[in-house]
Amino acid sequence: MKLYIAGHQGMVGSALVRRFQREAGVSLLLRPFNEVDLTRQAAVEALLAAEKPDAVIIAAARVGGIHANSTYPAEFLYDNLAIAANTLHAAYRQGVKRVLFLGSSCVYPRLAPQPIPEDCLLSSALEPTNEPYAIAKIAGLKLCQYYRRQYGVTFHSVMPTNLYGPGDNYHLEDSHVLPALIRKFHEAREAGRLEVAAWGTGAPRREFLHVDDAADACAFLLRLADPPDWINIGTGTDVTIKELYKMVAAVVGFQGRIVWDASKPDGTPRKLLDVSKLTTLGWKAKTSLREGIEKTYASYLAEKAAGTLRA
Ligand SMILES: NC(=O)c1ccc[n+]([C@@H]2O[C@H](COP(=O)([O-])OP(=O)(O)OC[C@H]3O[C@@H](n4cnc5c(N)ncnc54)[C@H](OP(=O)(O)O)[C@@H]3O)[C@@H](O)[C@H]2O)c1
Repeated sequence: MKLYIAGHQGMVGSALVRRFQREAGVSLLLRPFNEVDLTRQAAVEALLAAEKPDAVIIAAARVGGIHANSTYPAEFLYDNLAIAANTLHAAYRQGVKRVLFLGSSCVYPRLAPQPIPEDCLLSSALEPTNEPYAIAKIAGLKLCQYYRRQYGVTFHSVMPTNLYGPGDNYHLEDSHVLPALIRKFHEAREAGRLEVAAWGTGAPRREFLHVDDAADACAFLLRLADPPDWINIGTGTDVTIKELYKMVAAVVGFQGRIVWDASKPDGTPRKLLDVSKLTTLGWKAKTSLREGIEKTYASYLAEKAAGTLRA
């Protein structure tokens, strides 16, 4: 199988490369962003026409947090829509039979039932802070569904929960909670600080999946003859933010106090994906949160030492 991994230099893309490099019979087609910009339709068409891959995984996206989404809503919608539309349409035109599209749990409504089942998609309003991104991802998963329905190609999608691992983003404004905590506790320990400040009560619950497990779930789904149009990927368990702070502090070796400021907002009380569909199909996450954080802290230190840390 010749497999094109779009976005192979990102956190998810590089985990997919690690995963598929272990698999016999798979040859990888990889092109960096500066060679093939997927928002340019002609570039995507030319690549797929010349290389004729058997399968494509779309792990390229313009990714960012609340700050980036609210500062650049036009680009978040346009780029992600263009990446999905160009790649899926070019894949269909060039005879690619299999495409796996990476969505995100933010496609689900703000007030979704917990744990969040796949079928609550489009049942009510989205979380406004990442609406541009979510709308592009919903369009992507619907494009997969409609090309599949109309042309019989196996284009399908996955909706992973919060991911973390090697190659994560540690930027002060744009990083997700887990890498942000690793950086925060590491820098506090290095500076010999005795306290780390934390927003809210620490009561909200969140789910975290190691990116190597997410890549393994993608490999599992790519092998299924008749995969669901879209499916959640997660661990099925969550932790409180307070538990997460304690775990990261312990792994990093920060021995000071965590000071909670309950006057600050907490955010959504719970965000957990319903992964029963994936479990029934036969896939389960293997990395415990503690083990995953230990591995990620080791890669944080290695990336920092090598000067490759995204920060
Ligand atoms: N991280 C998570 O917690 C998480 C959770 C759920 C789902 N996902 C999904 O997984 C996918 C990948 O996320 P990630 O965390 O791996 O993000 P990431 O680390 O930022 O990787 C995205 C990759 O896409 C590339 N890219 C951006 N625009 C492109 C374009 N126009 N043409 C070609 N390549 C382009 C980026 O290149 P540059 O680095 O050069 O900009 C980067 O290598 C996304 O669809 C995301 O929704 C991620």
